[in-house]
Amino acid sequence: MSALATLASFQQDHLLQFAAQLERDELAAFEQQLADIDFELLHRLTKDEEATVDWAALATRAEPPIAVRGAEVDKNRDRAIEVGEAAIRSGRVGMILVAGGQGTRLGFDQPKGLFPIGPLSDRTLFQMHCDRLLAVMQRYGVAIPLYVMTSPATDQETREYFSKNDRCGLDEDLLTIFCQGSMPAVDAESGKVLMASKSEIALSPDGHGGLVAALHKRGCLNDARARGIEHFYYVQVDNPMARICEPELIGFHILSESQMTTQVVKKRFAKEKVGNVVQIDGKTQIIEYSDLPDEIAEATDSQGELKFWAGNIAIHVFQREFLESVVDSADGLPFHRAHKAVAHLDASGLLVKPAGPNAIKFERFIFDLLPLADTAMVVEADAADVFAPVKNADGAAVDTPAHTKAAIVAQHRSWLQQAGVKIPPDVQVEIHPSWALDATEVRAKVQSELKIEADTYLR
Ligand code: UTP
Repeated sequence: MSALATLASFQQDHLLQFAAQLERDELAAFEQQLADIDFELLHRLTKDEEATVDWAALATRAEPPIAVRGAEVDKNRDRAIEVGEAAIRSGRVGMILVAGGQGTRLGFDQPKGLFPIGPLSDRTLFQMHCDRLLAVMQRYGVAIPLYVMTSPATDQETREYFSKNDRCGLDEDLLTIFCQGSMPAVDAESGKVLMASKSEIALSPDGHGGLVAALHKRGCLNDARARGIEHFYYVQVDNPMARICEPELIGFHILSESQMTTQVVKKRFAKEKVGNVVQIDGKTQIIEYSDLPDEIAEATDSQGELKFWAGNIAIHVFQREFLESVVDSADGLPFHRAHKAVAHLDASGLLVKPAGPNAIKFERFIFDLLPLADTAMVVEADAADVFAPVKNADGAAVDTPAHTKAAIVAQHRSWLQQAGVKIPPDVQVEIHPSWALDATEVRAKVQSELKIEADTYLR
């Protein structure tokens, strides 16, 4: 079938309307873009004919997840830390940072990783994560490779940023930047594929669930195996409070022989906008807040606590072998539809920048790997310790840069206060991880500073 006939059979022949105006090279590149698109899949997704999950029915069979919760975390913390630290020290842990999203809600015109978020230092999101990774390496005397996932939307600027900024302090051998795949965006009303220019389809990253395919395709899984990496610690670039290679979480993951471990926080209220981590038919999985029927979300247990308490914060630990084993099945992960604003050409070839959502993007989600795991573990953490994502522009009600900075300052103030330091209420504090990574280290540092002062005084 000719390209035109194929496109016409999927009602996408408008894509060729400017083809006659293109130079030979542009046309060749455009034809390649078209050839890379699975129009049949796109048609099914657009027409909603792709098998979809009946979440309401599934949710009736949901139970709370098997999890290590607050008191149990406290009881087993020392052992978990010991096991986690041993894995880190022996070079068996690698780090994955996903940074391929377009950050449309934030409205920042560069990749989100370049956004300055240090409350006093103005360090970027990338720098915050790398500084913490460097401090972990320093603490355990080990080199930890970092795999940064970009997308065609963020790849070039991210590479330029790391090369201009001395790779944020990381040795060349420890930093791998690799690019995920993309999917065409379609007009929300008509289902027609949008064009970014006369010679380009409006493509968007295929979701953080594109990680597995990208890790495999770009050789990162082989690279990690060659380095002796057995576990990956996964965080998303927009959460600067995520711990990096936290021994406790790694320890619980290893002790439970889990293939995929998820850190969760207790939801503050029934319909909080986070994914609900649940157990269905023996498998751990996540039901988006929008897919969980109200009466199920509001159900309580015998203590009057929310039955479905576990909120996803997108911090995971994966066994490398698990990721290798799901490379093929990850290709079958479902696509989710996201209603977003996408700039595109109108029928006359003029660029339109819509103020609100006009398009559907198709994304795979990393947490859809959970039910593929034979063994999965869920570990509870305190949101104030690990979660303050930058999602929206300042002025929005939640998840803005101002909220994130305030959460970082509050955490660092509390570390100092726990160490006995008195801080006036209006004083802003930011602690660099090279000085202290956590409350325990702050206490040790403060005590040793006090001792130095006392010794000096006594002399
Ligand atoms: P979000 O789903 O919050 O998307 O990504 P976003 O791109 O940051 O923001 P919006 O929705 O356009 O406003 C959560 C994390 O997953 C990464 C993002 O970079 C962010 O760290 N991500 C998202 C990817 O790496 N690839 C994707 O295709 C999507």
